[in-house]
Amino acid sequence: MSSDPTIGASRSPRAKLTAPAIVEMKRRGDPIVVVTAYDHPMARLADQAGVDILLVGDSLGTVVLGYDSTLPVTVEDILHHTRAVVRARPAALVVADMPFMSYQVSVEQAVRNAGRFIQHGGADAVKLEGGERVAPAIRRLTEIGIPVMGHLGLTPQSVLAFGGYKVQARGEADQERLLREARLLESCGCFSIVLEGIPARLGAEVTRGVSVPTIGIGAGPSCDGQVLVSHDLLGLYLGHTPRFVRRYATLADTVREAFERFRADIKERRFPNERESY
Ligand code: KIV
Repeated sequence: MSSDPTIGASRSPRAKLTAPAIVEMKRRGDPIVVVTAYDHPMARLADQAGVDILLVGDSLGTVVLGYDSTLPVTVEDILHHTRAVVRARPAALVVADMPFMSYQVSVEQAVRNAGRFIQHGGADAVKLEGGERVAPAIRRLTEIGIPVMGHLGLTPQSVLAFGGYKVQARGEADQERLLREARLLESCGCFSIVLEGIPARLGAEVTRGVSVPTIGIGAGPSCDGQVLVSHDLLGLYLGHTPRFVRRYATLADTVREAFERFRADIKERRFPNERESY
């Protein structure tokens, strides 16, 4: 049985963050803090730390489910993990990441699946990757009252088309297109836009060029907010870590050492002792 004090805890004492409140943070010049969360205890801890947005990212596929990319992640996977995060009753805004092939087929498909994340998952908003090609879906979602976070640049669901996880928009034409697409997403009603894997100068230009917050990940320091995959910032992921990641802990070592000590205690018959027995 777990003695985790976060299990079954009541609602966060902070006021609940909303999509308009996130937009207002840009106006105030208040940097927006975003981390990914996939389960209840991590959502509680990030919320207690005062994080503004919990993103149930499809990075779930690589850092939790063991896939090589985000492409195999399904609507059911994101729903399952969104529910776990929402059960933490965080003050942070919960954004469910729409996985590959859950919104690309048609506007109707996008509306149905986004509706499931809100209605059955309890998410406060959804995130979609792409610019012009997903604009009609984003416009419809915002029209019916679903807050949408956009995502431009190195969009991982396009890894096969990009030929790998490469910095995007290095050339002038691509930079102009990305800026145009950011303005298009704003006009479609996005409350924020993730900018991933683009030159810092472009991150700054897009941030100046739109009135909604930009959330950077490998997009330089000028964005209105920053997001990292929690397993990267906690040092919990054993695979490749991109250069833009800053590690705030090395939990992989801590966890491995704890398992080693537990194993040694059992092998040496030191666990359990009398106090740890009924
Ligand atoms: O899936 C994810 O974690 C993301 C963030 C890295 C922006 O999309």
